[in-house]
Amino acid sequence: MPFDPFAPKDYVRAMALRPILVLPEPLLRKVSDPVPEVDAAVRALVDDMFETMYEAPGIGLAAIQIGVPKRIVTIDLARKEEPPARQVFINPEIVWASEDLSSYEEGCLSIPSLYEEVERPARIRVRYRDVDGKPQEIEADGLLATCLQHEIDHLEGKLFVDRLSRLKRERALKRWQKARRENDA
Ligand code: NI
Repeated sequence: MPFDPFAPKDYVRAMALRPILVLPEPLLRKVSDPVPEVDAAVRALVDDMFETMYEAPGIGLAAIQIGVPKRIVTIDLARKEEPPARQVFINPEIVWASEDLSSYEEGCLSIPSLYEEVERPARIRVRYRDVDGKPQEIEADGLLATCLQHEIDHLEGKLFVDRLSRLKRERALKRWQKARRENDA
């Protein structure tokens, strides 16, 4: 998800920036594979994901968005004036979702400049491995719940526009494609 409306903090760069895939890139529709072991290669990939996410700027990124079909999500919801708060979710799995829903205006670095209200469960419980490979479980609400669900959707090849009604989705994507064509012209 892009960082909006708050600007992200500056971040010391020591890693590699990767290009972010944008629709209609077919890889974005691929289902990502579980990570069998959290090793040095996975941690290097995580560093690249944060680097790429901060630069975008964004608050959440799934590995598939930089073309790597692995079940890895990076999130940082810290405000500009706050220190970075890196959160890494490896093989995340939603094990519980509340019946009550909340609505949030979502965007996606893979569909730049498109924002639409999306309704999702307000609270979720997620099981995952952290960057040390340790099993963890958290209960999330608010923006973290929304962001986690958005990024976990990416691991299934789903984008936030898939959560809109067909009519809303078609209208939004038509508007987005038109705006992109005009920007290219
Ligand atoms: Ni996204």
